[in-house]
Amino acid sequence: MRTTISVIKADIGSLAGHHVVHPDTMAAANKVLAEAKKNGIIADYYVTNVGDDLELIMTHTRGELDTKVHETAWDAFKEATKVAKDLGLYAAGQDLLSDTFSGNLKGMGPGMAEMEIEERPAEPFVVFMADKTEPGAYNFPQYKMFADPFNTAGLVIDPTMHEGYKFEILDVYEGESVTLQSPEEIYDILALIGTPSRYVIRRVYRKSDGMIGAVTSIERLNLLAGKYVGKDDPVMIVRVQHGFPALGETLEAFSFPYLVPGWMRGSHYGPLMPVSQRDARATRFDGPPRLIGLGFNVKNAKLVGPSDLFDDPAFDETRRLASQIADYMRRHGPFMPHRLEPTEMEYTTLPLVLEKLKPRFKKESDVVKAKQSIYEKETESSD
Ligand code: F6R
Ligand code: MG
Ligand code: MG
Repeated sequence: MRTTISVIKADIGSLAGHHVVHPDTMAAANKVLAEAKKNGIIADYYVTNVGDDLELIMTHTRGELDTKVHETAWDAFKEATKVAKDLGLYAAGQDLLSDTFSGNLKGMGPGMAEMEIEERPAEPFVVFMADKTEPGAYNFPQYKMFADPFNTAGLVIDPTMHEGYKFEILDVYEGESVTLQSPEEIYDILALIGTPSRYVIRRVYRKSDGMIGAVTSIERLNLLAGKYVGKDDPVMIVRVQHGFPALGETLEAFSFPYLVPGWMRGSHYGPLMPVSQRDARATRFDGPPRLIGLGFNVKNAKLVGPSDLFDDPAFDETRRLASQIADYMRRHGPFMPHRLEPTEMEYTTLPLVLEKLKPRFKKESDVVKAKQSIYEKETESSD
């Protein structure tokens, strides 16, 4: 059976700052999706949140970029926005960049990851959702899951994985992609994906049969709108087991709280902290950047689950280390490399400050010239 998993998300406003989605906005979205399920547009759904992002997980048989499914998500965000406005929530409707729906959600603000699959007899998968970071944040764990034998034992000892995977990598600035193979081209893969703000792993395929293994949302709102309108908190769908990384190999990739761009004002590097759904709230310095992982099975397009995968003491040490890294990074205050490089900063005061100070800058060469002429005058008069 061909089933499509569509995960579509937007920040439509939140409680007490950019902190957490309000339950009433989730209820409004739920209502729209329940109606769409009743009308046969979608087969099943689950509504959740990470921080200030409202997340719609939907299954159906209509394929990717389907008008009706996207319109359903759009309506859910619109209805939730109405509630957010009524309640006076913060930044209500933030990610909805257009007033009218026009065929699909590309370029309209919400982020999405969609995957059309032929259901395996058992089809386990994980939906990862992060707040206060951007799509390239998944480059590191995707590489760990699908290309690093020190993370994924199956790459060495499972014959169905041994051939490796293909990585489709998007240059978000040029809007073009390249597909590279692992293990043969891992140095080339790393040369690109080590710049996660520009090169983003969009899809991963199993090399032996071309079966899709992972898909990431790639929208970068700042590039879409021409100016920054919010961080592009990303989602990722990963199929697990039986020729793909085991569930534990997938989660293992997040056991090290690596640094990602985002956090406060979308302008700071901080550790990605995997948390339970209960703890998916942005607090300290609006973070630290948080990740949740929900495990599902899908059968005949119906969802079974979820299991809240990071709600587990096995990740306590990761969280503790993330907190220590947060302390360490915070002590840099406004200094790089805690603060992002100017081109990646969410807030644009830096050009204004530079403009204001421009008349006060003195050219180094002028200073040297002035010294030189004093010297020349002095030697002239002493002659
Ligand atoms: C980052 C984020 C927050 C806000 C911060 C300031 O992606 O959502 O860190 O940038 O709370 O918010 P404003 O500018 O709305 O006051
Ligand atoms: Mg936000
Ligand atoms: Mg967010």
